[in-house]
Amino acid sequence: MSRAAVLCGLGGSLPERIVSNEELAEQLDTSDRWIRTRTGIGQRHVVAPGQSTSDLAVAAGAQALASARATAGQADDGADLVDPVDLVVLATSTPDRPCPATAPDVAHRLGLGHVPSFDVSAVCTGFVYALATAASMITAGIAGRALVIGADTFSTILDPADRTTRAIFGDGAGAVVLRAGDSGEPGALLGFDLGSDGSGADLITVRAGGSRQRSVPGPAAEGEEFFTMDGRPVFTRAVLDMSRSSQSLLERVGWNAAEVDKVVAHQANIRILNAVGEQLGLEEKQIVANLDRVGNTVAASIPLALRDAVAGGELQPGHRVLLTGFGGGLTWGSAALVWPELETGRPHR
Ligand code: ACO
Repeated sequence: MSRAAVLCGLGGSLPERIVSNEELAEQLDTSDRWIRTRTGIGQRHVVAPGQSTSDLAVAAGAQALASARATAGQADDGADLVDPVDLVVLATSTPDRPCPATAPDVAHRLGLGHVPSFDVSAVCTGFVYALATAASMITAGIAGRALVIGADTFSTILDPADRTTRAIFGDGAGAVVLRAGDSGEPGALLGFDLGSDGSGADLITVRAGGSRQRSVPGPAAEGEEFFTMDGRPVFTRAVLDMSRSSQSLLERVGWNAAEVDKVVAHQANIRILNAVGEQLGLEEKQIVANLDRVGNTVAASIPLALRDAVAGGELQPGHRVLLTGFGGGLTWGSAALVWPELETGRPHR
């Protein structure tokens, strides 16, 4: 056995307002039928005016911390298992402001004191990257207990006239708590596979707002402040890179695909999930999907899918779980763990 980061708390938060496919079809040239058949999405949550990524991150973080406390309270040796969190890593591509990072504000509002806290930017792969970062800091002895949050509010950067992106993306936050433990325990993160390919940087992008655009005097060109995605090549790469990354991690961990109980992939499109399942030779029951209810919530997607799978009883202690994500950058990443006993309480929406 060796020192490992062990998942010990889980939470999530969705904004109140739900936008149905029918509501989108009233505003744009689209239909419930197109969105459901091409993406599997039925509705998405969007923030209210004035609500931001940090608000969702704080709510999800508070729930994950409560889950970790409740889980530890159940353990045989009692409440002294609850050490204070000494690291906050927030995955987001929609920070409250370009500078500074959003994580320090989230840590402050959660009352976590002067802990190290920073943002990780890897778009839809952000949560897996943040998980790997926090887990590495725990195994290196730099941290003992970490709050890892994935939170995004893509509704704030979408072009209101873009029927494709508006059909797909939703807002949300998901969070987990990691503690130091050993590699033989349920919940221990057993390995990661991470990668990137910057030659695809233009496929998923917001052109304006960064140093390249701002170094030129004058305002950004019209529309460049909005998020854009070239759907077809992204679709192909998402299937290829999540399948390859999953396969290479499975080999490293020593599992074959049939031994995996649940694959919790980034919830981009049901057709992508099914194609990854086909590439890996998975059965439908192995694939977790909640995108019909929340859409693509970017960095929140994987922890929200975990939360919903636990709440629905689909994900059980002892299950072998493979997480895999793909997103802008291009970036991709996978992680493996055996699902632990967790107290999660009732999901907050
Ligand atoms: N309603 C109706 N028609 C639409 C809509 C819509 N909401 N959106 C697109 N269309 C139209 C297109 O305009 C196009 O029309 P045309 O043939 O007249 O030009 C037609 O439907 C087909 O368009 P495609 O882009 O080929 O549609 P596709 O089946 O590929 O679906 C989609 C588009 C859903 C975007 C898909 O390509 C996809 O899921 N891509 C991957 C997204 C992804 O994985 N993202 C993950 C990373 S995202 C991140 O990191 C932030």
